[in-house]
Amino acid sequence: MTASTAQTTMSDGTKGLVVRGLTTTFDTTRGLAIAAADVDFDVAPGEVVGLVGESGSGKSVTLRSIMRLIREPGKVSGRVEWGGRDLVAMPAEELRKVRGGEIAMIFQEPMTALNPVLPIGVQIEENLKAHTGLTGSQRRARALELMNIVGIPAAERRLDEYPHQFSGGMRQRAMIAIALACSPKLLLADEPTTALDVTIQDQILKLLLDLRDRLAMSVVLVTHDLGVVAATCDRMAVMYAGRIVETGTVAEVFARPHHPYTRGLLGSVPRSGHSRTMLQSIDGTPPSLTALPQGCAFHPRCSFATEICRTDRPPLDLIGAGRRVACHHHEEVAAAEPIL
Ligand SMILES: Nc1ncnc2c1ncn2[C@@H]1O[C@H](COP(=O)(O)OP(=O)(O)OP(=O)(O)O)[C@@H](O)[C@H]1O
Ligand SMILES: [Mg+2]
Repeated sequence: MTASTAQTTMSDGTKGLVVRGLTTTFDTTRGLAIAAADVDFDVAPGEVVGLVGESGSGKSVTLRSIMRLIREPGKVSGRVEWGGRDLVAMPAEELRKVRGGEIAMIFQEPMTALNPVLPIGVQIEENLKAHTGLTGSQRRARALELMNIVGIPAAERRLDEYPHQFSGGMRQRAMIAIALACSPKLLLADEPTTALDVTIQDQILKLLLDLRDRLAMSVVLVTHDLGVVAATCDRMAVMYAGRIVETGTVAEVFARPHHPYTRGLLGSVPRSGHSRTMLQSIDGTPPSLTALPQGCAFHPRCSFATEICRTDRPPLDLIGAGRRVACHHHEEVAAAEPIL
C-alpha cells in the first residue's frame, strides 16, 4: 500500500494508531526534562511512518511512551488510541495482552530487551504462548521459521543458545523474530536494522513491508537513515527537541521541506534516496531539554529566524492534507533554493 492508497483518516477513532498530546517528562537533578512534548501523529492500518531527528530528539522516548514502558520518575500524559482504546489509561492487565501480541516493539538496544537467562527459542515461544493458541510443537516450528526468516544461520541449534552467545547483529535479528512472532498489527521499530549489514537490512525491511501488505500491519520506524525512509515509509515525522516539527508524505517532505531543521537534515540527500544516506549534521548543537530556548527551540541554529522566533513558539500548523509544520517562516523555507 502506498501513501496515496493507505487509509489516512481515523474517522471512527478505532482504526490505526492515534497519538495526541503525548508528553513525557523526567525529573532530573538539573530540572524537569521534557523529552517528548505534545506529540501528535496518526498511523493508519498498513501505513509505515518514519520518525527521524537527531540523537536525543525524543524518538525512543516517544515509542517507549506509546508502549507505556517509561519508568518512574518519568511521567507520561496525553492519549494513545489503539483500536478505540487509550493505552495510556488502560489497566496494566489489559495492556499486557496487547503488548507483544497486537503491538510489538523492536528496541534500539537488543540486550536490554532480551532476557539473559533464557534461550532465544524459549523467548520466542513464550511470546507465542502468551498470545496464540499454538501447541508446543507448533510453537517450536514457528520459532524455527522466524529464526530462518530473520536470517539467523544454524537456526535449529541457535534456538537453544542464550543472548550472550549471539553477536550484536544476531541479537538484533533475534529481537526482530520475537517482535514479529505474533504477527503484530502495530510494530514500533526503533532503529531495527542499524547494526546489520546492508543485505540483511534490505531483507528485514522487505519482510516488514511484506507483513504490512499481508496483515495491514502499521509501522512506526525510527531511523537515522534517510535512504531507508525514502525506500520504506509512506509518511514521515521529523522531531526536534521533543517536538514534531514537520509531517507529510515522504515524497512531499523530501521534495519540499517546510521546516528549516528538515531542510538541514535532508541537506544534499540524493532525491532518489536509495543509497544509505545518513542524516546530515547541522551546525550548532541541540538544546538542553531542561533549558529549552524561548520561542522556537530551533531558533538559535536557524538562518531563517527573526524576532518572533525568539519569543513565540510556532504551533504545528496544518498546511495541506496530512501535512503539518511548526515554523513561522515555512513558506519562505519551502521557497528557498535546495541546499547543494
Ligand atoms: N530515564 C530518563 N531520565 C532522564 N532523561 C531521559 C531518560 N530517558 C531519556 N531521557 C532523555 O530524553 C531525551 C530523548 O531521548 P531519546 O532516547 O528519546 O532520544 P532519541 O531521539 O531516541 O536519540 P537517539 O537517536 O540517540 O536514539 C534525551 O535527552 C535523554 O537524555
Ligand atoms: Mg533512540
